[in-house]
Amino acid sequence: MKTHFLCPLSFLFFFALAAQAAPDANPKCEAPQDHGSTLRVFHIFSPCSPFRPPNPAAASSWEESVLQLQAKDQARLLYLSSLVAKRSVVPIASGRQIVQSPTYILRAKIGTPPQTMLMALDTSSDAAWIPCNGCVGCPSSSLFDSHKSTTFKSLGCQSPQCKQVPNPTCGGSACMFNMTYGGSSIAANLSSDTVTLASDPVRGYTFGCIQKATGSSVPPQGLLGLGRGPLSFLSQTQSLYKSTFSYCLPSFKSLNFSGSLRLGPVAQPQRIKYTPLLKNPRRSSLYYVNLVGIKVGRKVVDIPAGALAFNPTTGSGTIIDSGTVFTRLVTPAYTAVRDEFRRRVGRNVTVTSLGGFDTCYSAPIVPPTITLQFAGLNVSLPAENIMIHSTAGSTSCLAMAAAPGNVNSVVNVIANMQQQNHRILFDVPNSRIGVAREQCT
Ligand SMILES: *[C@@H]1O[C@H](CO)[C@@H](O)[C@H](O)[C@H]1NC(C)=O
Ligand SMILES: *[C@@H]1O[C@H](CO)[C@@H](O)[C@H](O)[C@H]1NC(C)=O
Ligand SMILES: *[C@@H]1O[C@H](CO)[C@@H](O)[C@H](O)[C@H]1NC(C)=O
Ligand SMILES: *[C@@H]1O[C@H](CO)[C@@H](O)[C@H](O)[C@H]1NC(C)=O
Ligand SMILES: *[C@@H]1O[C@H](CO)[C@@H](O)[C@H](O)[C@H]1NC(C)=O
Repeated sequence: MKTHFLCPLSFLFFFALAAQAAPDANPKCEAPQDHGSTLRVFHIFSPCSPFRPPNPAAASSWEESVLQLQAKDQARLLYLSSLVAKRSVVPIASGRQIVQSPTYILRAKIGTPPQTMLMALDTSSDAAWIPCNGCVGCPSSSLFDSHKSTTFKSLGCQSPQCKQVPNPTCGGSACMFNMTYGGSSIAANLSSDTVTLASDPVRGYTFGCIQKATGSSVPPQGLLGLGRGPLSFLSQTQSLYKSTFSYCLPSFKSLNFSGSLRLGPVAQPQRIKYTPLLKNPRRSSLYYVNLVGIKVGRKVVDIPAGALAFNPTTGSGTIIDSGTVFTRLVTPAYTAVRDEFRRRVGRNVTVTSLGGFDTCYSAPIVPPTITLQFAGLNVSLPAENIMIHSTAGSTSCLAMAAAPGNVNSVVNVIANMQQQNHRILFDVPNSRIGVAREQCT
């Protein structure tokens, strides 16, 4: 469970939870030093986040202008009426309307009889954790009631699973652990119960039962880590799903569960192009790939080779992450892409900035295609993956930014907005990641 080092990769987001996320009165970016083994990315409202709005009021007006907020009830009805999962296919929805969280969610059935939790999907975390009965400070009232499950077990300090948790503590005989996630901290009991995502029940699944949470970065109904570490979903379902899965994330504006997570090697796309998956032993959960170049329109932009190079010692390179919202590139790469993007849009068109975005337009523009050139695989992103539009005003912004300069400045994160309506196949046994366009809306 390396999650506490890595999970803050999630949640780079400016939209949801504006009120709840109202940060401390005098926020300061007091980021711990990066010692080469700790990769930190910040929640959108973190004082360290480049997207942090100047004040919460600005956040909510931008929020309103970016997305048409629709009735929560409607979303709830859609979710309730959407179809039962087929075998090993788990529907995915954007969590924005449904659980007011900037994540993609799926329905997990936990316990006997099953209780449904809308868990956030995070490829850069290992652990799973859910808010449990008695939780103090959990953001949602939808708590998992362990007393109502006949198969629930609290894991003891002597259990083998407890040894896979960093810094466990013994509360009585219960194995407990603390971790941070984005700007939140969590205290949980290590527990196990039956977890069903598709139709296959996984008995004795190990997860954290949250007893106490602070901050607002905790996904309201828990998180399912799809990283590669010891207690991850991949490890715990190895015999069933063979460390192979793919997903299609629908647009963040989509209201229903039209996306999908496909588990196991069966029924994965056959005709899909791959790029090798790289492994960084020091950040073993993360899915590193080799980004070799970036094209804007037809031009390969000039990026110093070192800006994209994979280096396990410094952590530099490029990762694919489902939890981060907007792609961030190391500064020399971002600058080159942005400058060419602006040039292509037109020298006479006025560029403005908004929040953490520095390339915005108030008049309609035709954006050039941006192509991510991975080793063996080019992914051309159409406008829907590049521009974020305000619906109230007419502003649109290039939905990417430079990595923050102070910390974590070496890693490029290919984020979920840039993955929407693509199938991303994680084939861990064959060390490769496949990408293909797929309209899951
Ligand atoms: C978590 O562990 C503590 C300490 O053993 C215990 O008091 C509490 O009831 C446990 N909570 C759950 C939900 O198992
Ligand atoms: C873990 O968190 C709990 C609750 O916030 C706190 O009481 C406890 O001291 C923490 N334990 C460690 C080892 O930090
Ligand atoms: C689900 O969303 C898709 C795209 O957003 C839409 O085409 C479809 O009609 C929706 N289904 C329902 C039941 O609203
Ligand atoms: C850009 O603006 C200048 C000055 O207003 C004008 O002379 C020129 O024709 C414009 N160029 C384009 C491509 O619109
Ligand atoms: C990707 O695009 C580049 C430049 O357009 C081209 O040279 C290269 O062959 C392409 N790679 C693949 C795998 O198609």
